[in-house]
Amino acid sequence: TAPLIIAVDGPAAAGKGTLAQRLARALDLPYLDTGLLYRATGRRMLDAGLDPATTADDQARRVTLDDLSRTDLRVPEVDRAASLVASQPSVRRILVDIQRAFATRHGAVLDGRDIGTVIFPDARVKLFVTASLAARARRRWEQMTADPDAPDREAQIARVAHELEARDAADSSRAVAPLRAAPDAIHIETDDLSADEVLAEALRIVARMT
Ligand code: C5P
Repeated sequence: TAPLIIAVDGPAAAGKGTLAQRLARALDLPYLDTGLLYRATGRRMLDAGLDPATTADDQARRVTLDDLSRTDLRVPEVDRAASLVASQPSVRRILVDIQRAFATRHGAVLDGRDIGTVIFPDARVKLFVTASLAARARRRWEQMTADPDAPDREAQIARVAHELEARDAADSSRAVAPLRAAPDAIHIETDDLSADEVLAEALRIVARMT
């Protein structure tokens, strides 16, 4: 039988990464965070002193799996740079091969925006993970912040919400491979679920479909 491929898509900070990682561990499958490919490309543009809104093909071609373990990929300037390079059709084309090759032999869990629609339209399982903007902003803020008692906590969370909303709007409105649920994706809304509950729900879905 064909290797098991599980696509996990959804907006920023919905809990895709946490779920995909835990699913991979539970099912003993390789895991790829595809956002890191765009982050690594954006990072390379910034390091080279190039504007990430300009063509990033050369930098995308140089991305290797090693680049993905860089520790400076999850910073706000790279959030923006990644989204900008990800809107370039030629960059997406270059990064398709590495994503498909990763999963061909042993299957994989991949999380991103277009895994179920473009990268693996025939994936056996497609999950679309969502949460309200408020829940996503609070979780992302909790991940980032050192001080949970900061006096301007609400203002900080509002700022994170604003940035997530802008990135989702850009990712959803781009012409190529926009953020969108595949017609056959199963939606998981994570507002009222713990990480354990999300994993349990996903494992039930996988069991049903395999
Ligand atoms: O998932 P993450 O937030 O790390 O992704 C960073 C950016 O990379 C996203 O905002 C999106 O623009 C882009 N991306 C994409 N397609 C994917 C994964 C990420 O366009 N499959």
